[in-house]
Amino acid sequence: MHVAVIGSGYVGLVAGACLAETGNDVVCVDKDADKIARLQRNEIPIYEPGLEPMVERNQAEGRLTFTTDIGAAIRGAKVLFIAVGTPPGEDGSADLQHVLGVAREIGRHMNEPKVVVTKSTVPVGTAEKVRAAVKSQTDVPFAVCSNPEFLKEGAAIEDFMKPDRVVIGVDDEDARAVMGELYAPFTRQGGNRILFMDIASAEVTKYAANAMLATRISFMNQMALFCELVGADVSNVRLGIGSDQRIGRAFLYPGPGYGGSCFPKDVKAIIKTADDLGLSLDVLKSVEAVNECQKLVVLHKVQRYLGSDLSGKTVGLWGLAFKAETDDMRESPTVPLIEGLLAAGAKVQAHDPKATDSARHIFEDRVMYAADPYSAAHGADALCVMTEWLLYRNPDFDRVRRLLRRPLLVDGRNLYEPERMKALGFEYHGIGRGGR
Ligand SMILES: NC(=O)c1ccc[n+]([C@@H]2O[C@H](COP(=O)([O-])OP(=O)(O)OC[C@H]3O[C@@H](n4cnc5c(N)ncnc54)[C@H](O)[C@@H]3O)[C@@H](O)[C@H]2O)c1
Repeated sequence: MHVAVIGSGYVGLVAGACLAETGNDVVCVDKDADKIARLQRNEIPIYEPGLEPMVERNQAEGRLTFTTDIGAAIRGAKVLFIAVGTPPGEDGSADLQHVLGVAREIGRHMNEPKVVVTKSTVPVGTAEKVRAAVKSQTDVPFAVCSNPEFLKEGAAIEDFMKPDRVVIGVDDEDARAVMGELYAPFTRQGGNRILFMDIASAEVTKYAANAMLATRISFMNQMALFCELVGADVSNVRLGIGSDQRIGRAFLYPGPGYGGSCFPKDVKAIIKTADDLGLSLDVLKSVEAVNECQKLVVLHKVQRYLGSDLSGKTVGLWGLAFKAETDDMRESPTVPLIEGLLAAGAKVQAHDPKATDSARHIFEDRVMYAADPYSAAHGADALCVMTEWLLYRNPDFDRVRRLLRRPLLVDGRNLYEPERMKALGFEYHGIGRGGR
């Protein structure tokens, strides 16, 4: 099938590569000429495990191409995915200018009937706006679908190739058949995992999923605070509740607050949509408020033990990205942590295996970027673990302790066992692990 993916960021690039991998002819479009030129040379602008060889292979075999020529891409494709960004506007609502701009462009180049698919995360009602925007430019018939993307950064290829489910909102029989055919290779194992539904429900499903996941995180972060007050260990509580099948084990990890390009903006956007309709989503407003406080929990722990004035102190950080296996710094909780440490007078020396370049765009030379984890610990008065990268799981703890000026270890991800760390000579403080 001939497919065009418009917007070649995380979602568009992964979707394009995976659709090419299953034999389709895919053209990925972006307005960023530099990004397209790099992709044509197989230079992948993001870190995502498995993506680079997949792009290289499919490009070499001629199934995947990259272009800035949106008109040619639209004219040559049967299915058009809109995968551009939907950043939050000033009032928290999703900014649809890119999505609707692309929709008008699609209308201008519509040469035969096509299926127009919104893959970007968009508020309920957007598919109808897309339909109107396309229609304003053409008389050629077309169908509109909502196909929200559920991939996780860091496991994006795995998620796209073996999805838990594919949600397709559609109101046209031919489009339904086309989308079913396109996704069949990804859903062969494990029964019927394509969920066809009405368009509005598909749009809401994406926001409801992210809102639920963010809620679990804020819930556990509050339980962690409670555990600290009563001397309980939230890791035990997590196991205790997660083994209940009604609750499940996933997404029950307390930490330094959720970040990334999706949860913060999607929670804000669904709150705004509901507010505009006169419904206050109070649960989600609390989820957001709890997360804002949580992003400062590690900073407050450092200041509790080193004092609020951190002049003359050095703080080492392990991890900058908002989670492991990505170089994405968008809304990372390390940003308010570092700003807080610098404002209090501390020197910050940080290590991350992939996100240093992204961090440089934010902090420039206000932070010392360490080449390895041990250099970040060297001479520091405290070491904070902010991202759950595998290489931080089992370091040479004796070496780390000797390198630190003070063996203060603030484990923002609860990677280590408190008793073991204390036995190794650390002043250890996790999140919600029995005592403040
Ligand atoms: N990143 C994720 O993990 C993830 C997961 C699921 C859904 N989403 C959603 O998918 C959408 C895209 O997210 P992303 O992270 O891929 O964004 P991104 O910022 O990484 O990529 C968006 C791309 O679209 C391009 N673009 C913007 N306007 C364009 C236009 N008019 N023509 C051509 N290209 C254009 C930009 O240059 C950019 O390369 C968002 O709505 C997001 O919420 C993201």
